[in-house]
Amino acid sequence: MPLFQRYINLIQIKSLEVNMQTNIKNPDRMEDTDFLTLEELKSKAVFVPKRIGVAADHGGFELKEYLKKLLHETGYEVIDFGNILMKQDDDYPDYVIPLAIAIARGEVDCGVAICGSGVGACVAMNKVKDVRACLVNDTFSARQGVEDDNLNAVCLGGRVIGHSLAWELVKTFLNAQFSGEERHRRRLAKVTELENDKNPL
Ligand code: RB5
Repeated sequence: MPLFQRYINLIQIKSLEVNMQTNIKNPDRMEDTDFLTLEELKSKAVFVPKRIGVAADHGGFELKEYLKKLLHETGYEVIDFGNILMKQDDDYPDYVIPLAIAIARGEVDCGVAICGSGVGACVAMNKVKDVRACLVNDTFSARQGVEDDNLNAVCLGGRVIGHSLAWELVKTFLNAQFSGEERHRRRLAKVTELENDKNPL
């Protein structure tokens, strides 16, 4: 039986602990999960993004609006970093960098950044420490990018992919989980060194 695949934070785990204690007094209501300790529950907790930041320039504006609506309808909290109006000569860094900073600060759980190709957004976002953004055009990369590389943002090309594929990619990205396997942590640590004092430049 899949256990606690959708636990987000300790508040939920705490309330579960209270339920467990209540159920111990009412054995008829006990389930398999009631036999887990709080530590075991925490170890099974997985990160589920809830607050999704979005940002786009003119090349991605229409796709951003489309995805925003679907994200909202699906139950996510959507925070829009702009541009909030379609403006033909706006610049993607003005929107995707504030989104990247919000991801790095933990103000949003993850992000979707869109420009015409998705390339500029990706380059800009990865300049911000602790942001791992990637341009994705296929579901394999959208999923494995999270599982292996712990992506916290995807970039999309508003002039490259159709709306339906973009939504598939976003859903795949949001539903994927970082595996946390040692070899992936080791590789990511080597990348993260560049953000710290081991930068060779
Ligand atoms: C803007 O015309 C375009 O260069 C931008 O949206 C993006 O594609 C950059 O990578």
